[in-house]
Amino acid sequence: TRPQARPRPKVIVTRRLPQLVETRMAELFDVELNLSDEPMTAAALADAAGRCDVLVPTVTDEIDAAVFANSGRLKLLANFGVGVDHIDLGAARAAGVVVTNTPGVLTDDTADMVMALILGVPRRLAEGEKLVRAGEWNGWSPTGMLGHRITGKRLGIIGMGRIGRAVATRARAFGLTVHYHNRHRLPAEVESALEATWWDNLDAMLARVDIITINCPHTAETHHLVGERQFALMQRQAYIINAARGEIVDENALCEALTAGRIAGAGLDVFENEPAIDPRLLDLPGVVLVPHMGSATFEGRQAMGEKVIANIRVWADGHRPLDQVLE
Ligand code: DGY
Repeated sequence: TRPQARPRPKVIVTRRLPQLVETRMAELFDVELNLSDEPMTAAALADAAGRCDVLVPTVTDEIDAAVFANSGRLKLLANFGVGVDHIDLGAARAAGVVVTNTPGVLTDDTADMVMALILGVPRRLAEGEKLVRAGEWNGWSPTGMLGHRITGKRLGIIGMGRIGRAVATRARAFGLTVHYHNRHRLPAEVESALEATWWDNLDAMLARVDIITINCPHTAETHHLVGERQFALMQRQAYIINAARGEIVDENALCEALTAGRIAGAGLDVFENEPAIDPRLLDLPGVVLVPHMGSATFEGRQAMGEKVIANIRVWADGHRPLDQVLE
């Protein structure tokens, strides 16, 4: 007798994914795609969770306890993205739902975006671009559009995981000295390869560095990790870069610090209440704003989709998924 083919898992995807990923999913799974690409409402998410084995959410979906309330069938949340702060992991665990993410494949793209902001903020890239487009540029001048030199400045990296390290590698090539704050100190060989200085005390590092970049996950511990008190510690010429999660920075305190000239500028790829942005940010010079696009390359998004597929396949074969978030 021939072995019975396993039933294809019912997979619901909450947003449009790259075409090749959707095509491959349709070949492998009983897949339901969200062709409108409109973020699902809370009710639609809860309904989807009750009708599928696998839900593929993204950072724009709030996967809270309500989603798990009637999710008897749901067994796997295969997140399209590395950050999982939009998922109530405790509720997932209680509901017996496995959570996976997509680490590794967006590291370089995100680190490149961080570098773009590290370079673009002190060198006033956005202001210069606006000037040219507005037809207000009157030609080169010895004192025009002066910014601050990158080379020789001190970079303070908060969170030295994959992305933090990729930023450190790039930053060294630009002549920045690398400082970092991380819960755990890196192994000595990694630290010396990156020529990175560890600061156990975040406050002390913030007071010392010229550019701060946030590269840690958003958790209960890192929520508003940088707020009014931390801005007060920073140097007046300091810049802050955030391509991790908006909620790690108290956006109101950031606006106040920028408005008061407490710090010199900010490069933001993420915001506390996306897609809403504190309107004060729009009018401040020295601020570069981009729309949560750290991982937004064709290659990166394709690779994220492939990771999602691999995680679902391994899980459907009865094994522990490659990128399981919960132990
Ligand atoms: C992530 O993966 O967490 C990004 O924020 C979206 O790609």
